[in-house]
Amino acid sequence: MVDAHALHEAVAAWYARNARVLPWRGVDDPYAILVSEVMLQQTQVERVIPKYRAFLDAFPTIRALADAQPADVIRLWAGMGYNGRAVRLHKLAKEVAEHYGGELPRTAAELRKLPGIGPYTAAAVASFAFGEPVAVLDTNVYRVLSRVFHGIDAPARDTLHPLAEELLPQPDSPLTTADWHQALMDIGATLCTARQPRCMLCPLRALCAAAPHLQSGGDPALAEASIPYAPRQSRFQGSARYFRGRIVDYLREQSDAGVEESALEAVLSDSEAASGAPCPVSLSDLLAALERDGLIRRENGRVRLP
Ligand code: ADE
Repeated sequence: MVDAHALHEAVAAWYARNARVLPWRGVDDPYAILVSEVMLQQTQVERVIPKYRAFLDAFPTIRALADAQPADVIRLWAGMGYNGRAVRLHKLAKEVAEHYGGELPRTAAELRKLPGIGPYTAAAVASFAFGEPVAVLDTNVYRVLSRVFHGIDAPARDTLHPLAEELLPQPDSPLTTADWHQALMDIGATLCTARQPRCMLCPLRALCAAAPHLQSGGDPALAEASIPYAPRQSRFQGSARYFRGRIVDYLREQSDAGVEESALEAVLSDSEAASGAPCPVSLSDLLAALERDGLIRRENGRVRLP
């Protein structure tokens, strides 16, 4: 078993020199941290950085977000995908403004009770904003912990939770639980990557069960086989989700009055031509799903952002 203290020492020393400079680091506003974590969950860091800044410029407080029109929030989400996140974040802000005095609760357990916050986001906000000692496991952290402890035989992700809890830094550790997680994210993103891990530069090389297998061969397939498995995401291009995204993209460009529903037939056929695949469901099914998710509103044969 790896010595947790040795692990903390190695990670702390590396992080002190190599931490990425990211706009949500060193921030103590829980709302800003919430926004960053919702964005980062399904979108790459580089793409999130400008969007995070623009979002906080437009909606600097949770109350400002609560008071916004959903359409404006959806417009700001352009380019990030998974638009449902914009709607859920807006609803969450309304709930916090109306029922929590505009203050996010301080523990993961309390945050989980809010609508639209999943286990990852609750843990990340509790840890980064409030210093709660809870495990924060994103894709990068799963991969790093799995390789260090399980080598190239990756378990299912869920099995790593108890281990992650055990490894949480204690008050006498050389780094806080928040920095521990941020550091593991950085190691995962910059060194312990999915296909080309750079074990030679990794502070955990001497402690890592996977490093002896990964550093010599450099075989991307072997590296990939050592990633703890998660439910597979289905193909995006040509999926119903892809076509819903194209419709929302089109509506973002229209005025608040929206368009005739029939105009969206052309959007759909243009998107089919662009993706080279037929839409697997009808336009009316796409619109029903978008309406259910709060991404559009339909009235008198017209469609618009809500
Ligand atoms: N991915 C998810 N949360 C992150 C964070 N706080 N910093 C960098 N990457 C992340």
